Amino acid sequence: MSRLLWRKSILALAGIILASGFGAAEAQRNLKAPKKRYTGPGTTPNLRNIIIGRCYHYMSLYPATGVKDCSGVWQELTDAVFRKEPCNITEEDYKKLAQVTAQTIPCDKSLLWSRTNDLVHRYTKATESFMTLEDTFLGFLFNGLTWCGKTASPGMNYNACPSWKECTNNSLSSFWKIASATFSQASCGTVHVMLNGSADGAITRKERC
Ligand SMILES: *[C@@H]1O[C@H](CO)[C@@H](O)[C@H](O)[C@H]1NC(C)=O
Ligand SMILES: *[C@@H]1O[C@H](CO)[C@@H](O)[C@H](O)[C@H]1NC(C)=O
Ligand SMILES: *[C@@H]1O[C@H](CO)[C@@H](O)[C@H](O)[C@H]1NC(C)=O
Repeated sequence: MSRLLWRKSILALAGIILASGFGAAEAQRNLKAPKKRYTGPGTTPNLRNIIIGRCYHYMSLYPATGVKDCSGVWQELTDAVFRKEPCNITEEDYKKLAQVTAQTIPCDKSLLWSRTNDLVHRYTKATESFMTLEDTFLGFLFNGLTWCGKTASPGMNYNACPSWKECTNNSLSSFWKIASATFSQASCGTVHVMLNGSADGAITRKERC
């Protein structure tokens, strides 16, 4: 049941992204403007240092994570996006990255959320009893960051990346899709789901295994 709700909200989100994507494409055609590349902010400056720093930080915060190859994490990210069209990145491209960042999620601690971002993080910080996507190794490493590659050469594009709504298979949305799917699959026992009451329903808890 909880997974179903989760899927439903992902589908709804995908629907919104799709709808606005078509709208933007239509507007662009009407204007007959030269093809504008990407409308989102470019790759976060110092991305490599931030990710490697967060990687070591996470291991010190949560020693149970074990020893991770922080340079290897960066390597898998570059393999996923370098020399690729940033609007043509799929979950498949991030598979290796998800593998090298795999971790054991403590049972009964997972909290999935939808449209309650602020609230859920205030709640988990206050109680420290739940784990959200951003508390997982993969989510912690990339939370709040932007990145995309370039087709012509290896390296990140620091000027502009696709915004969330610009195309379906973009470097960020595909990453967060696989990150949340991996978290939800690794979760065990009781999985808690927090939905926005004004949008979806209520706080639910559900057994799964
Ligand atoms: C999109 O990615 C796939 C697989 O990586 C590749 O085969 C295809 O040529 C790419 N298409 C474009 C338009 O870049
Ligand atoms: C719930 O959704 C509404 C409308 O989308 C939003 O204004 C509100 O901030 C959300 N509540 C929480 C707790 O995130
Ligand atoms: C996005 O990627 C999926 C494969 O994961 C593919 O089936 C789909 O056609 C792609 N969508 C677009 C708009 O390129």
